Amino acid sequence: MGYLKLRIEKKSGGEQRTRARAGWRRLQTAACLAGVALLLSGCRLDMHIQPKYLPDWPSKFFADGRSNRPAVPGTVAREDLRIDELMYSGTENGVLSNRFPFPITRADLERGRERYNIYCSPCHDYTGTGHGMIVQRGFPEPPSYMLPRLREAPVGHFYQVMTNGIGAMYSYSARVTPADRWRIAAYIRVLQLSGSAPLQDVPQEERQKLMQAPAGQTPGQAQ
Ligand code: HEC
Repeated sequence: MGYLKLRIEKKSGGEQRTRARAGWRRLQTAACLAGVALLLSGCRLDMHIQPKYLPDWPSKFFADGRSNRPAVPGTVAREDLRIDELMYSGTENGVLSNRFPFPITRADLERGRERYNIYCSPCHDYTGTGHGMIVQRGFPEPPSYMLPRLREAPVGHFYQVMTNGIGAMYSYSARVTPADRWRIAAYIRVLQLSGSAPLQDVPQEERQKLMQAPAGQTPGQAQ
């Protein structure tokens, strides 16, 4: 019993010494780091606290009260020049346009469908009726693209909704490039057409499949 106690005491004594040594080493490291930090901050202190303007800060120095200087007339952008009104605003002379800024090919429609299925279908669903999975889980329901109001809306409107967002729907400008927004708008036109096409528009061989599909299910749609 006594032997065991001694061992324990010995052990804890050893632990104490080890802890004291570790503490001393930590103190040394901290002092060393503090010294380095002091040296480093000493080097750049004057540059650090110099008077300066951050972008869009006001200034009393210029008559217009802005610290940013406007671009000199005639300045040419080196990248991302956005002077094409239709392409970047969806308007022509300030009016929503019903034209696409570039010819829409089958490849554009396929890209539009892919982007639509990724970004829009979670709320608008794959056919555009507005019953996507997020809506089924409680998100506000978007209007169906089949509404006459949206069927008649110029394509520029769809471009602008994606660019600026609308009501509860946020903007997609950070996720979808302007060209892809047009491709999605073109694909929405496809959905609108397919959602209201009469049976005689469907090729004969496809009609049979359409008649066999259970109600509410589009033939060929993966379930
Ligand atoms: C997180 C859900 C959500 C996603 C994702 C979403 N939307 Fe919407 N969208 C909505 C809601 C909600 C509304 C209704 C907004 C309102 O009127 O308050 C709406 C409305 C719309 C409208 C109708 C605007 C009008 O004039 O009434 C269009 C067009 C539209 N969205 C297109 C898109 C496109 C294209 C995408 C993909 C790039 C997309 N949405 C992605 C939720 C979403």
